Amino acid sequence: KKVAILISGSGTNLQALIEHTRSGLSRAEIVLVISNKENVEGITRAEKAHINTKVIPHGNYPTREAFESTVTRELRSARVDLICLAGFLRVLTGSFVCEWRGRLINVHPSLLPMFKGVRAQRQALQAGVTVSGCTVHFVAEEVDSGAIIAQEAVAVLPDDTEDSLTQRIKTAEHKAYPRALEMVARGEVVLGEDGRCVRT
Ligand code: GRF
Repeated sequence: KKVAILISGSGTNLQALIEHTRSGLSRAEIVLVISNKENVEGITRAEKAHINTKVIPHGNYPTREAFESTVTRELRSARVDLICLAGFLRVLTGSFVCEWRGRLINVHPSLLPMFKGVRAQRQALQAGVTVSGCTVHFVAEEVDSGAIIAQEAVAVLPDDTEDSLTQRIKTAEHKAYPRALEMVARGEVVLGEDGRCVRT
């Protein structure tokens, strides 16, 4: 399957996905990396791996729809089958999500459905939970609410800061995301009509 990764920043998940898909046994091939921000580390990582990149600064477009139609054009011309959001900091419109239904996945730094939205790690610290983690899920129109493909738990330690917890969760993401992508690329998990995962 041809995969596009959408990023806005450092791209450590992108790096984990690159390494996984290059390992030899993967059914997924990353053919395109799109960033909505210029000069981000993720783009450098993709270039080093000789993957095609496109920077599409959202500020250059008058509307969300205009931005997304450029993104869609790039995805189509690269014949992309699946999209992975990896630290992509733009909310996608319902029509984009609908068009890519079942072929669009995201990673979120909490055990969903807990701590949706921004700064999930800080929300976890404030709630006083002793376990958190990450979730890879199909993207649904409502943010952070799509069907769960894979999760990985991490401990929340008494002296954790937002940074230290973020790092520990990222390490878990770097395992869970490649595993989830592989399951989707192999058709072992599909998004059912009812919005829940069907595992074959
Ligand atoms: C990850 O923590 C992910 O859960 C969130 O954004 C972060 C991206 O990090 N959606 P990176 O750019 O992959 O390093």
